[in-house]
Amino acid sequence: MSVISTEINENIAIVTVDNPPVNALSHAVRNGLCDALKDVSDKEDVQAIIIICAGRTFCAGADISEFGKPPLTPTLPDLMDIMDGVSKPLVAAMHGTALGGGFEVAMCCHYRIMDINGKVGLPEVNLGLIPGAGGTQRLPRLIGPEAALDMICSGKPITAKSAMDLGIADHVREGNLLETAIDFTRNLLKDKKPVRRVSDLTCDADNEIFEAYKTKSERKFRGFLAPFAAIEAVKASTELCFKDGIKFEREKFKELVSSSQSKAQRHLFFAERAAAKVPGIDKNTASRDIENVAVIGGGIMGCGIAINFLNAGMPVTLLEISAEAGASAKQKIEDIYNSSVAKGRISEEQMARAIDLLTISDCYDDLSATDLVIEAVYEDMDIKKQVFEKLDQILKPDAILATNTSFLDIDEIATATNRKGDVIGLHFFSPAHIMPLLEIIRTGNTEGDVIATAFALARKIKKTAVLSGVCYGFIANRMSSCYGREAGLLLMEGATIEQVDRVMYDFGMPMGMFSMLDMAGIDIGVMARENLSTDAYDERAFSVHAALVAEGHKGQKTGTGFYRYDDGKKPNPRAEELALEMAKKYSITRREISDREIEDRCVLALVNEGYKILEEGIAMKESDIDVVYALGFGFPRYKGGPMHYARHLGLKKCLKKIEEFAEKHGERWWSPSSLLIKLAKEE
Ligand code: COA
Repeated sequence: MSVISTEINENIAIVTVDNPPVNALSHAVRNGLCDALKDVSDKEDVQAIIIICAGRTFCAGADISEFGKPPLTPTLPDLMDIMDGVSKPLVAAMHGTALGGGFEVAMCCHYRIMDINGKVGLPEVNLGLIPGAGGTQRLPRLIGPEAALDMICSGKPITAKSAMDLGIADHVREGNLLETAIDFTRNLLKDKKPVRRVSDLTCDADNEIFEAYKTKSERKFRGFLAPFAAIEAVKASTELCFKDGIKFEREKFKELVSSSQSKAQRHLFFAERAAAKVPGIDKNTASRDIENVAVIGGGIMGCGIAINFLNAGMPVTLLEISAEAGASAKQKIEDIYNSSVAKGRISEEQMARAIDLLTISDCYDDLSATDLVIEAVYEDMDIKKQVFEKLDQILKPDAILATNTSFLDIDEIATATNRKGDVIGLHFFSPAHIMPLLEIIRTGNTEGDVIATAFALARKIKKTAVLSGVCYGFIANRMSSCYGREAGLLLMEGATIEQVDRVMYDFGMPMGMFSMLDMAGIDIGVMARENLSTDAYDERAFSVHAALVAEGHKGQKTGTGFYRYDDGKKPNPRAEELALEMAKKYSITRREISDREIEDRCVLALVNEGYKILEEGIAMKESDIDVVYALGFGFPRYKGGPMHYARHLGLKKCLKKIEEFAEKHGERWWSPSSLLIKLAKEE
């Protein structure tokens, strides 16, 4: 079946794109649209043309899978040229998400109407790109350069109402879009409305707005090329004629599309979607109905988890050990909502609606009708097992029993129940109501429908989910502890706290390891390691951490940790003294450490562990590890995640360095992954 069909309704041609799932502007669509437009332009009885899409959305953009391959003509710019040459009124009728090239097609039309629930946007920056089919030249002409900068640099879609307010949409309606479009177009013809090309408009702006925008966004876009290229392109729309502006945009687009940044960001786009594809589980796998949720434990984590479900409109029961603890948990949740209201993220009504769905309880019997329980109590195996034993006695059959443990063996937790198949890990990242990642951990017994339900639920609460098997720390924390180990060792070997943090910040991480530990609380890791045998981790690497905690320096919450915060943020001299003391204790020779060594050791520790996680079958796919590290710990998206980055560096090169580290620092932590050895040979 053709992806483009044309129907003539009296004197109006209706050109419909039908290219599921999202009507991406693939070669076939571009070709079909060019032919259809030429064809109806030549027909004398056709006086106006509507472009509309079948299925769930107007075109959601260029076909991303075609990027990086030799361009097939007609390209999108070729299509735009043909559209700009059409001399009959062209109307775009948009529903769903008209994104990227889709929105550019709409901007090339003379009139735009939108379904009330529709959205438009130029999300190319998320793929390391700028719009490449006129978006940076037409949007500023349509809505002014300042509003265009916001839309293009943020990549965020806007609602139909905002599109109407900004002058993007000429008409917004609820109801049958095609009928609305036909009525709208008839009126255009009746009123003899002219052909209205955005390319004929002009726009100008003071150079200062671009400089100011750049300064304002420098921190937000740190490390990314695309937003800065977008600023240049929008600026060009105010300085150059349309034709030259398009040329400028095209050059920038070409540079970016072949850049390592865009490749990395496109990799993550597909990796995030591939993460939900679990062999043996598909759309037809039955999943369980989850109408309500209970969270056990009202600490920061439990409260954050509860908020996810409240935001999704699901009733949540939060269980605490006493009425007082329950009241304090409720207060924490209200505080988080109040701050969201103050920041204008949600309205008072939304907050009231969410809080209404919350029930506080201190009695397990209240959970008898609960569909899903997520345990978020203290990270201690005995306590968790006691909770699961109680849940097993109370919950109805088919309820799902989840734990938010960060490290513990979920197979063992499940032994406290007589329903091991219903037990699963749902590992949230702090702050749980904000971080976009959910690690789903299947035990050796978790039923397929429980896994399918967890993925469906992740979608409902707008998280990207990745499946992991059971091991200490699962994918995320197992990798992070290797990075933490190297940071700790480097500190004792002679690097400074600030140096380690600066190097990894410059690498693109949101903050260095020691700043992160101070923020999260150094004591959390120290307590977790107390339950571990010293075989399982490098005692030397975390000895400064333990000594700091013993002296009350737990991080930001106590005012001192690796840094002190009383007079701005400065390294805590006590932490540096302890590094010297511990180096002496463990007979570590101190030396000058280069920035290069810091980056290599921290990043390659992640890479080597990532391949071990993969070879053990803990992660299903290499790209899942990238998703975990990018979404869970802020690995720079423009580097695509540690595994993608390793491939970019070259696996042979990575392996060689890892072997050198093994020789210098010992095989204990640096023995290379056998999968990495195999893949490096194949490279
Ligand atoms: N090109 C190629 N494939 C695309 C695509 C595009 N522009 N947009 C989406 N897809 C694919 C996805 O990879 C996914 O494929 P899969 O089912 O094989 O995994 C499928 O379409 C559905 O996308 P998904 O994101 O799972 O659906 P959704 O309903 O949650 O979101 C969109 C729909 C359109 C909002 C979202 O896919 C999106 O943001 N797409 C990218 C838009 C974009 O960046 N356009 C500019 C390109 S220059």
